[in-house]
Amino acid sequence: MSDKKRVSRRQFLNYTLTGVGGFMAAGMLAPMVRFAIDPVLQTKEGGDMHSVASVDEITNEPTRVEWTIDQVDAWYESEVQKTAWVYRNENDEIVALSPICTHLGCTVDWASQEDYPNQFYCPCHGGRYTKDGVNVPGTPPTAPLPVFEHKVEEGMLYLGDAQSRGGGS
Ligand code: FES
Repeated sequence: MSDKKRVSRRQFLNYTLTGVGGFMAAGMLAPMVRFAIDPVLQTKEGGDMHSVASVDEITNEPTRVEWTIDQVDAWYESEVQKTAWVYRNENDEIVALSPICTHLGCTVDWASQEDYPNQFYCPCHGGRYTKDGVNVPGTPPTAPLPVFEHKVEEGMLYLGDAQSRGGGS
């Protein structure tokens, strides 16, 4: 007689059902776990630059430029319209400002008020910014307009993300 351990029919059934059950449970749980943590695993694409205007068209007067980007929020993809105020400063450098008021997020306009012809004006609460986007003391905004990172390539202006300039006066 051999000393081999014998597996009873009951043990065989237990092992088989446990193995098959575990395999099925893993098959069901894996997609759920992936679904739950997918946004965390995604690498941020940030830093994309978008062609928005020919540099020849940029003057000393702030001009509104618009472009669209593909935005992905978790599993939802959409096209988002972006806007910037673009001009050349006194040193002939290109400046691209965000039009989003740092008070409560309305959209600022350039030189739309007779009393403040060389300033950005926010119609929501009368916020004002000088041409370089710095908030005017005594008006609601407490920080300057964010500045878009930019580059010039083959005669075209490319804009990236708008960078906050922190708290102002
Ligand atoms: S949102 Fe611009 S001043 Fe309030």
